[in-house]
Amino acid sequence: MKSNFLMLLFSITAAIAADVTIPGEGAYSVSNLGGLPDEPTSVTQPLANQLLDVLEKYGLTKNFGVVGVHSHVSLAPGQVMFQHGNSTFTHQEIEVYNDVRSVGVPYTYRITTDAIPQLLPLDLGEITPNVMAARSDLAAAMANKAFLQEFAEKASGHLAGIAYIRPLDRMALEHSEVVKNHYNVEKTAGNATAISLTAVESDDAPSFFTRGVGNSTAVSEITILCSACGHGNPWED
Ligand SMILES: *[C@@H]1O[C@H](CO)[C@@H](O)[C@H](O)[C@H]1NC(C)=O
Ligand SMILES: *[C@@H]1O[C@H](CO)[C@@H](O)[C@H](O)[C@H]1NC(C)=O
Ligand SMILES: *[C@@H]1O[C@H](CO)[C@@H](O)[C@H](O)[C@H]1NC(C)=O
Repeated sequence: MKSNFLMLLFSITAAIAADVTIPGEGAYSVSNLGGLPDEPTSVTQPLANQLLDVLEKYGLTKNFGVVGVHSHVSLAPGQVMFQHGNSTFTHQEIEVYNDVRSVGVPYTYRITTDAIPQLLPLDLGEITPNVMAARSDLAAAMANKAFLQEFAEKASGHLAGIAYIRPLDRMALEHSEVVKNHYNVEKTAGNATAISLTAVESDDAPSFFTRGVGNSTAVSEITILCSACGHGNPWED
């Protein structure tokens, strides 16, 4: 009885631990967040539309969206933001990278716009079957070097990247809601939940754009809001 349970546990753990290798995926380092502002304003909705065209061309829009990369937290060398959650709530906090690297995979990437663009992980999140399916899509897109080149060309120096569409984001999109992050005062931890469009405040800035996930027919759907980023509210005036 007990050994059956252990066998089952072992096979589940082994299945989850079998990571997908993504060609050209950069290594995580705190320096990947170097120079990021605390506002996602470098990516506007028209630019997000163009970047989503690239994601669509490479079969990524089912599981990834375009993000205006930014950072609210200051991390010391060796630290990483780690997130876990479900379809109604996510929590993220600062962890020691070496303690959590084996139980997480990147959820958000910065794509640099150097001559040879790089896919650089910015955070980690828990390993789930859904995020592994997303990693398979990303591995297929990255097998073609043209993907990063085209993304970087369109981004043309703007601070842009891609992020996994989490169950929380998907649920919000399906219900015409938006996800909002709430950080603690020290900016060492944050929670995210979905809010209705009428609860959006004027200084909430859009930071995540997806396509074809919700019921909207818009070319890009705004999913995540960054509060107090000093940027206009897309639903006002
Ligand atoms: C998600 O997690 C939160 C916090 O643990 C919990 O309160 C909530 O019920 C969970 N939601 C679902 C749909 O499981
Ligand atoms: C949007 O579509 C999903 C199915 O994709 C459905 O479950 C959901 O109820 C729809 N939401 C609205 C507001 O129509
Ligand atoms: C996040 O949620 C947890 C559990 O509900 C709560 O204890 C914590 O204070 C929240 N943190 C923030 C930054 O809102």
